[in-house]
Amino acid sequence: MVGIDFSEVAIKQARRRTEELRLADRADFQVGELIATKLSAASVDAVLVVDSLQFADPLPDALQECRRIVRPGGRVVLTCWEPVDADDERLSPRLRQMDLGRQLPRAGFVDVEVNDKSAWRLAEHALWREVLTLEAGDDPALRSMQEEAQRMLAIFDGLRRVLATARAPRTASSPP
Ligand SMILES: C[S@@+](CC[C@H](N)C(=O)[O-])C[C@H]1O[C@@H](n2cnc3c(N)ncnc32)[C@H](O)[C@@H]1O
Repeated sequence: MVGIDFSEVAIKQARRRTEELRLADRADFQVGELIATKLSAASVDAVLVVDSLQFADPLPDALQECRRIVRPGGRVVLTCWEPVDADDERLSPRLRQMDLGRQLPRAGFVDVEVNDKSAWRLAEHALWREVLTLEAGDDPALRSMQEEAQRMLAIFDGLRRVLATARAPRTASSPP
């Protein structure tokens, strides 16, 4: 397993956590970009992108990068948010652009499925509500999270929580 993030801090934390869990021999973490992972073409069996795709700039290039690195017949699994209404001006342009049901086939994927995860949505709502009940004091990280909670709760009804799955087409030479 190879984990990619453009934040060196995130990569260091992931490595430390993997050591704590005694899984360091099974996982590697590297600094990389959603649009340029530095992984070789067709080098992975599957790609999992958790709650990050909306940051890709530009988004189609990140989907092309997923398509490039996954082997023929390999799977992609993506979790993110999509707008209920793409014209909703309360939402940032990067959230308004998300439409994986259209964008994954354009990137060359097949067997595309995009499902609403309403239970995840409820859990996320509860999380933001809980964050606002905490006493932040002078903790800058918690204050920042509370600001994010306020922003997210204000637009919550405008977002869907989605899980998308798709497959890279098999070629004549790829295994079934
Ligand atoms: C909401 S967090 C999700 C993190 C992780 N996938 C998880 O589930 O715990 C979004 C992550 O995307 C990373 N990120 C944002 N823009 C990125 C980019 N252009 N390329 C790579 N990583 C990016 C951030 O550093 C952050 O760690």
